[in-house]
Amino acid sequence: METRILGKDLTVSAVGLGCMGFSHAYGAPTDEKEVIRLLHRAFDVGYTFFDTAEVYGTPEAPHINEELVGKALASMREKVVIATKFGLRFDFESRKVPVPLIPDSRPETIRKSVEGSLKRLNTDHIDLYFQHRIDPQVAPEEVAGVMADLLREGKITHWGISEANEEYLRRANAVCPVTAVQNRYSMMARHYESLLPILEELGVGFVAFSPMANGFLTGKYGKGQHFDPQTDYRAAMPQFTDEAVEQNAALLKLLHEMAAEKNATPAQSSMAWMLCKKPWIVPIPGTRKKERMEENAGAARVRLSAREVQTLDDALEKMEMSCVFGGTPVS
Ligand SMILES: NC(=O)c1ccc[n+]([C@@H]2O[C@H](COP(=O)([O-])OP(=O)(O)OC[C@H]3O[C@@H](n4cnc5c(N)ncnc54)[C@H](OP(=O)(O)O)[C@@H]3O)[C@@H](O)[C@H]2O)c1
Repeated sequence: METRILGKDLTVSAVGLGCMGFSHAYGAPTDEKEVIRLLHRAFDVGYTFFDTAEVYGTPEAPHINEELVGKALASMREKVVIATKFGLRFDFESRKVPVPLIPDSRPETIRKSVEGSLKRLNTDHIDLYFQHRIDPQVAPEEVAGVMADLLREGKITHWGISEANEEYLRRANAVCPVTAVQNRYSMMARHYESLLPILEELGVGFVAFSPMANGFLTGKYGKGQHFDPQTDYRAAMPQFTDEAVEQNAALLKLLHEMAAEKNATPAQSSMAWMLCKKPWIVPIPGTRKKERMEENAGAARVRLSAREVQTLDDALEKMEMSCVFGGTPVS
């Protein structure tokens, strides 16, 4: 797979692999052997960028995702980029679905988190350490100061911010240069597009999470879909209701047409749209299935001209769509 550069010098595969779904939010956790097989195959296919987080787990095993990723990638550690995240914990006690998130980026919490992640990931450094969510109680300068210390100590080599807004990014970046933001971005959730000129100005990359609108843009989920409300967040996501499938008919049609034209799949087309927009945008689709992981990697091969991207943008702008999970505007 071709590579891209995030920030000044972090080389990653053009499409990264989101690892969250192995043990969080998309149904029952995947068997360890299967995860290891899938990650090894992903490396063979050309993925060199893997995204996990301290909190991707279950109430029984809250940090299991990092352990799985660490174990699976141990034999190829020096050839891959591992991104993980700090600054958030899930309130599993609440029993609500989706599980409420509690931000905590106090320096002492970050210090504890980084040691835990290094241990679970079975490594002596984290390639890209994301603040998972902004903590309103802690100033960006303070978080960036801790990142500068961790960089000096060699515990991390790059850092980033997830769900970053302009002001926070600028203030943090002034203290310690940011390599990438990781924000929600897909054809259905385009509210961070206003950030693109700022990222360009600052030389900060954009890692796009939930790039297929949690799978909806693959075109494989129709009416009558059932998701287990206890383990699968899609049960509560507005884009998966029967009504939404109808409201999104024009969007799905557009994706199928584009796919046919480019000899691609709707999943690949939806990600090619962002890949062809800027050379520093990197989607990280998640899947627990080998065939889908291979299919998604193929997004990097689909070429759209600037004019084709613009035509799609114009169409999306005018199109009626359902609500989408996490589609709230930038605060
Ligand atoms: N920073 C943050 O706050 C944040 C938040 C959310 C996610 N993330 C990261 O972003 C990654 C991706 O996001 P995401 O998993 O929420 O959304 P996504 O990549 O848009 O969609 C994933 C869903 O689509 C399905 N899928 C994947 N490829 C498919 C294909 N080719 N055909 C049909 N279905 C397909 C998967 O199901 P199967 O597993 O059954 O294939 C899964 O349910 C996560 O793994 C995580 O690393 C970060």
